[in-house]
Amino acid sequence: MPHGFEAVFYPELESTNLTAVALAKNIEQGATWVIAGRQTGGRGRRGRIWTSETGNLYCSLLWRPNLKPSELAPLPYVIALAVRQTVIELGIDESRVKCKWPNDVLVDDKKICGILIETSANNAESLNYLVIGIGINLMHFPDDAQFSATSIYDILSREIDAKLALEKLSKQFDNYKNLWFMRGFDDIRREWTKCAWGLGEPRLIRTNDDSYVGRPMELMEDGGLLVVVDGGHEKRLYAGDVFPLT
Ligand code: BTN
Repeated sequence: MPHGFEAVFYPELESTNLTAVALAKNIEQGATWVIAGRQTGGRGRRGRIWTSETGNLYCSLLWRPNLKPSELAPLPYVIALAVRQTVIELGIDESRVKCKWPNDVLVDDKKICGILIETSANNAESLNYLVIGIGINLMHFPDDAQFSATSIYDILSREIDAKLALEKLSKQFDNYKNLWFMRGFDDIRREWTKCAWGLGEPRLIRTNDDSYVGRPMELMEDGGLLVVVDGGHEKRLYAGDVFPLT
């Protein structure tokens, strides 16, 4: 583990995010990676289930950075870049690994990981803790997923040990967190943009209460996605998902 981080491993948990949130109630607990061999109630974004059989990486980082809640816009992109670099270090050619807004990582247009960030703030000025849940498809992937998925095994026909993947991920998280803290969001935005999926192309945009076709154009300095819709007018997206046009 990089300096300042602990790790705890459980063969089975309901959800590593839930366990990390429980750990956070102990205010003495510093930055800690919680890892599970499998999850019985893995959680996905927007209330979805994250199928979690043995063989993939399931982990959550409990983290208490000295940041205000209003300073967290870069976080999803910092995490996505760390996961992308991990997948590359595990053997997948970098040209195939793309970041999809807001915080997915795709290989050959298929989802290889899931990221679920939970934030607890004391008030607008003070963050209590963050729990950053990450699942990387090493050996398996769900075939009923809303977005087509893949795994490293499916691509490379090579078994990858979850411990090795975690070692790489924790190191990459530390690198990109340092880049963010030392150089600011501009460097993160630039790097994310270089490997972004579908910028400038027509995509299906889905939000909680809307669904429309638009061209994602740019990651804005406040973390929103600039989308151009029919007639050329612009929208800024802060929550939702981007899909291929079928
Ligand atoms: C998504 O819907 O794309 C996000 C999925 C996040 C899954 C990971 S697996 C480890 C951590 N524990 C959970 O229950 N969820 C996250």
